[in-house]
Amino acid sequence: MKNILTFGTFDIFHYGHLRILERASKYGSNLIVGVSSDKLNFNKKKRNTIYTQEERMHIISSLNFVDNIFLEEALEFKRDYILKYKADYLIMGCDWTGKFDEFKDICEVIYLPRTPDISTTELINKIKKL
Ligand code: CTP
Repeated sequence: MKNILTFGTFDIFHYGHLRILERASKYGSNLIVGVSSDKLNFNKKKRNTIYTQEERMHIISSLNFVDNIFLEEALEFKRDYILKYKADYLIMGCDWTGKFDEFKDICEVIYLPRTPDISTTELINKIKKL
């Protein structure tokens, strides 16, 4: 049984989010998702989320290929989370390429291509212009 770990904010859940989780799930039998807390997201992206962390966690946990979720409280805890959840794979979108290579000593780190032409930021901007 291989454990797969991935992280993200997953705000205004969209097709790119669905696809990365679906593709990540195929690497093993247990997909664990660290959902970034509201506070962590604000530090990372300098804006508040549209959906709360509880709403974002609820959406992710309802996907049938997601086995476990937790709240990611700080970027600095990545190594602890990988060890705690005994991750065999850390899988992220390619916007993170190289950024998690420091964890290659404890798991396999894989960057998957992003789904083109969609992101939470783009959706917000599109809706603003309507
Ligand atoms: N992701 C993806 N394809 C997209 C958008 C996101 O594969 N089109 C992946 C990211 O690479 C990441 C995960 O989904 O591994 C969560 O990304 P997140 O930052 O929450 O979503 P974005 O839509 O990129 O959000 P933002 O525009 O706020 O940066």
